[in-house]
Amino acid sequence: MNPQSSVAQPQIQKKFHNNRVLNFYAGPGALPLPVLERVHAELFNFKGTGMSVMELSHRSQEIQDIIDDSAERIKRLMSLDDQFEIIFLQGGGSLQFLMVPMNFSQPGEEIDYIDTGYWAGKAIRAAQSLGRDLKIIASSSDCNYTYVPDLNQIHPRPGAKFIHLCSNNTVVGTQFHSFPAFTIPVVADMSSDFMSKPIDVSNLSVIYAHAQKNVGLAGTTIVLIRREMLTKIYDNLPEFLDYRTHIKSKSNYHTPPCFSIYITWQILRWIEEDIGGLKQLEKINEKKASLLYNFIDATPLFHCAIAPASRSQMNVVFTLPNESLEKQFIYETSQAGIIGVAGHRIRGGCRASLYNGVTLEAVETLIEFMDEFAKQHSF
Ligand SMILES: Cc1ncc(COP(=O)(O)O)c(C=O)c1O
Repeated sequence: MNPQSSVAQPQIQKKFHNNRVLNFYAGPGALPLPVLERVHAELFNFKGTGMSVMELSHRSQEIQDIIDDSAERIKRLMSLDDQFEIIFLQGGGSLQFLMVPMNFSQPGEEIDYIDTGYWAGKAIRAAQSLGRDLKIIASSSDCNYTYVPDLNQIHPRPGAKFIHLCSNNTVVGTQFHSFPAFTIPVVADMSSDFMSKPIDVSNLSVIYAHAQKNVGLAGTTIVLIRREMLTKIYDNLPEFLDYRTHIKSKSNYHTPPCFSIYITWQILRWIEEDIGGLKQLEKINEKKASLLYNFIDATPLFHCAIAPASRSQMNVVFTLPNESLEKQFIYETSQAGIIGVAGHRIRGGCRASLYNGVTLEAVETLIEFMDEFAKQHSF
């Protein structure tokens, strides 16, 4: 759609390397260019096998090495000790909405959830469908989810089997920045901020994250389970849905999504070897987010409604004064090769997702564009 702007369009042109665009999609989203180049280089012949990773048997040593080395790299990068098991599953974040309550609770048992909007809500509905005694122990629905509840003020039920929270809400643009200790286990859906910075895992018992935001492609979901949680798994589960099955078979119980795990492995190598680890990555991610939030806060044409302390470093949501200007902004960004800045369909507005694959230069270019747009539309 061309909103037929009556004013001159901003002058930023497609000037990006190899005709690639600047990708701000909310996931799947941008992948680091060096990773794509490496994948390209070894696509037809992976490590002298004479075939691509896509053609290798999942029972081959090469695939098992990729899986095992990916788990080792996650442990190293996150400074995890041997307290955590790490597995690569299919079914996305959505299957984890079901597997978590199925493994750690039984029908009628208490489980506590924190409601921070869209993705937290989907996890809640999935668990409710299993007939648990689910209680929402905190919610930010009173302010249209524009903040996250203070975890220090939350009191889970002593008999609850776990607390579930979504660390970064991709749709509404909020994020928990730390996790206090609770008396019951905490399960975190980290699908949209996993591996974007170091996190203190000491108060977390289970972490799950699909790969397609910060660590790869759709197809694999990474699950970290504290060993002591394994003793709490109920024995009457279908084998496939029991975490222990996948731990025992080193994520190779059935045909794993080999190519997807391979891309995750390449990204973990990139984080470790090119970037220099999660602390370094955090510096870059913090800079990207603070540049964009500072610009939005200083520019009257743009507005971010999320409470500053709850703002997501991954998904920056913002609005313009009216819907037609937003449509024009989204159209003109796409004409300039800046893609994916429309907000989620249920929230409207705009959203720029700043995952690991998004460079600082890309964010600077977006801001340059927004600045020109603001100059032309200030009123
Ligand atoms: C935070 C979060 N959790 C869960 C999901 C659902 O994941 P999937 O689409 O892999 O099932 C998403 C999807 O974007 C998400 O952003």
